[in-house]
Amino acid sequence: MSDPFDFDRPAALYAVMGNPVAHSCSPRIHQMFAEQFGLRIEYQKIQVDLGGFSQAVANFRGAGGCGLNITLPFKQEAFRLADECSPRAQLAEAVNTISFADDNKIVGDNTDGAGICRDIMFNLERPIAGRRILLLGAGGAVRGVLGPILEAHPELLVIANRTVDKAVELERHFSSARGVVGCGLDDLAGQQFDIVINGTSASVADAVPSIPSTVFASGALAYDMMYGDRPTAFIEWAARHGAGQAADGLGMLVEQAAESFAIWHDRTPQTGPVIAALRQGRSD
Ligand code: ATR
Repeated sequence: MSDPFDFDRPAALYAVMGNPVAHSCSPRIHQMFAEQFGLRIEYQKIQVDLGGFSQAVANFRGAGGCGLNITLPFKQEAFRLADECSPRAQLAEAVNTISFADDNKIVGDNTDGAGICRDIMFNLERPIAGRRILLLGAGGAVRGVLGPILEAHPELLVIANRTVDKAVELERHFSSARGVVGCGLDDLAGQQFDIVINGTSASVADAVPSIPSTVFASGALAYDMMYGDRPTAFIEWAARHGAGQAADGLGMLVEQAAESFAIWHDRTPQTGPVIAALRQGRSD
């Protein structure tokens, strides 16, 4: 492996793989983290064709690559490709962080759940323990974060999805935890939550899941796992319908990256200045 402090050798190589990947902030985030420790890394964006993922990982490793972040739509494929996976990646059945062991084995982890929990609990200072949490959606994004959210001991975690069966299936998968309920969006009538997390892909189409506007308990946090140059449709809708606080997924993005960085470099970077720099960049 390249020594990140040896300036006569090429910088250690990292990358994010996805499709699309052009929009990714990961190279900027990891460079800012590396600067905090005086580490020299090269972090690339690699657009991978559907069907070409395992070959792309092999090529990257062959070129001396040290670690990979995996984004849509390859997280499940990365899970299947990995030779070994952390317990949290096994629970999520998805991998967003790959390292390579000395014997070249592919080691998979998933830092998404840790990322959202850190953002909500530490950056936004909203406890999850003992609170009523609503997670909207039942796709890969939600599955990836369910385990760590449950480990934070909410009083109740309701997974509500447009297609009810998928939410019920997730409830079954995570049934060993107390207080997990899967239901449809219509079943939310009359219920209120302290934290409402949008894990659907509705924001991509500028849409909002059709949920009752009464879901927000007094002072509730509305959280969109998506982020963009401007507030998502869900964030705008929540602010108009009684949420006390609203946040997009930029903090989660930086926190999951910090957890990946710690896996690769054995150092925990400061996330606050990086979140602030990205938010500043968006408003310029
Ligand atoms: P991802 O990996 O981003 O989670 P996915 O696995 O395709 O993507 O899941 C998308 C999720 O967003 C699903 O829960 C989907 O609901 P369905 O299972 O009913 O399809 C949800 N979703 C997408 N658009 C939505 C919308 N306009 N309203 C409500 N839910 C929506």
